[in-house]
Parts: sequence; C-alpha cells; structure tokens
Amino acid sequence: MQYRHAPAANHAALDAVLASAPGRPTLPVRLTVELAGRARVHLPADAPLTVWDPCCGAGATLTVLGLLVPGLARVVGTDADPGPLDLARRNLALLDPGGLTARAADLEALAARHDKPSYAEAATAARTLVPAGTPAWSVTLADARDTAAVRSALAGAGPHGTGPDLVLADLPHGHRTTWAASPTRTGGVAGTPAPDAGPVRAAADDRDPGVEFLRAVATALRPDAVVVAVGRGRTVPLPGGARPLERVRVGHRAAVLVRAGALQEG
Ligand SMILES: C[S@@+](CC[C@H](N)C(=O)[O-])C[C@H]1O[C@@H](n2cnc3c(N)ncnc32)[C@H](O)[C@@H]1O
Repeated sequence: MQYRHAPAANHAALDAVLASAPGRPTLPVRLTVELAGRARVHLPADAPLTVWDPCCGAGATLTVLGLLVPGLARVVGTDADPGPLDLARRNLALLDPGGLTARAADLEALAARHDKPSYAEAATAARTLVPAGTPAWSVTLADARDTAAVRSALAGAGPHGTGPDLVLADLPHGHRTTWAASPTRTGGVAGTPAPDAGPVRAAADDRDPGVEFLRAVATALRPDAVVVAVGRGRTVPLPGGARPLERVRVGHRAAVLVRAGALQEG
C-alpha cells in the first residue's frame, strides 16, 4: 500500500503519550491516519464526522484520530471487555481542552521521579502537539453483537442523531485480544472465547467471527456509513456478496473499506 493521506513521520513520542496495556498492541499511528483519509474520500467532504470504534480497547485508535485528523465532531468507543476501558477514558481525555497539558505535567512528574528521559521526551511531545480538534467522546461497555447495548452507546451520535459516519475497527487477533464469546453462535461452549481469528480466510463464512461482527456492526449504521476493518493475515472476509470499496495490504495486516449498506445486504 502506498500512503496517500499520512506523510511519513516519527510517531514514537505520540505513542509514548498514550497509555497502553502490555500485550494489547494497537494500530500504528500512520496506518490509522491513512485509513481514515481513505475512508473520508467516500464520505461527504467537509462534514464533521462521528467515528465509532466498536472494539476500542484502550482507545488508542480513537485518540490518535481525534488528535491528528481534523473535522471530527465526536468519537465513540465500545468494547465487550471492561478491562481496557479505564485506559480508553484516560487516553480519550487527551482530547479534552487542557488534556494534553495535564498529561504533560504527569509525564514530567514521572520523568523527575524515575529519571527517565523517555518520560521527558513524551512530556515534550504532549506539550508541543497541537490537536487537530477537540471532538466529544464517550466510552461504553458493549458487545458489538448486542444490538440494544450498541444502540444505547450510540444514542445521539452523528449529524442529527443519524449514527456514526465512519467505523474504524482493529479486529481482535492473538492471545490478548480474542473475540468475545458469541451470544448467538451455537456449537461452542457458552462463555468460551471464539478461537483466535488467526490468518483470516478469504472466503466469506457466516460462522467466521469477523463476518458475524461486521454484520452486527452494520445494523447500527446508515447504509452510506463507511466501515474500515483491519485484520491480521491476507484478507478480511466480508459477508457473501458484499462488495468492498477498497482493500489494502500493509505488512502482516489487511484492511477493507466497505459501505454499511453492502454489509447489510451481503
Ligand atoms: C485489537 S484490539 C483493539 C485495539 C484498540 N483499537 C485500541 O486502540 O486499543 C480488539 C478489541 O476487540 C475487543 N472485542 C472482542 N470481541 C468483541 C465484540 N464481540 N464486541 C466488541 N469488542 C470486542 C477486545 O476486547 C479487544 O479490546
């Protein structure tokens, strides 16, 4: 993939400003900005956007978007696991007026206490970063397949309450970020996490947890909303018949951009 919307930059200091949980890797900053830029091409120009991350984890993806991408009105995070949501609130507080200054002060205190230059560098990054905007934000515990919980978390989101314009989801992969146990799938042991999505299969399969997830996410969206899903492996499977807007590969990741309407029909 050639980067068209995110110039090369060293984001190490921004990474250090974000609070992260060990073993919970997040999308690279540049890839996050690039995918938002590509999605934006398919959305009305200059309209303030509402972005939903339905598996927001520690909120890094949404915080990076809020800090670096102009024109966001609101970012909404939901996740089936309560574990990382306090971190998500901490990260998203960076989008509040004064949020970066407060984080810089925390990092300076840590730098003084532990005599660690990395904290001081992160503090400088927090003080010098000029945020692209100050979108409103919220974080809620919700399994993306639980329609009622999702609708309540998204209440009032989007222009005139019409829901999010853009979904950006880094799909679960690996040991620490597995799919939550399905409330609907049969054949498994209740409460047992679905197997690691592993290298995602190219063929659409309704039993694929990613396909089930995308279908569920689309039920909460307007047909013209754009969904960006990122997975590990060669491709991100879509429901049968759903035509993507675009597919990209970058390193060991694959991403798909697709209209919610295509997911609803697929
Ligand atoms: C790769 S992580 C996302 C990282 C996140 N973008 C960040 O910035 O930290 C995948 C997340 O999906 C969540 N997840 C798994 N199954 C889910 C489901 N059915 N509904 C919502 N979230 C789910 C996991 O709890 C995990 O936090």
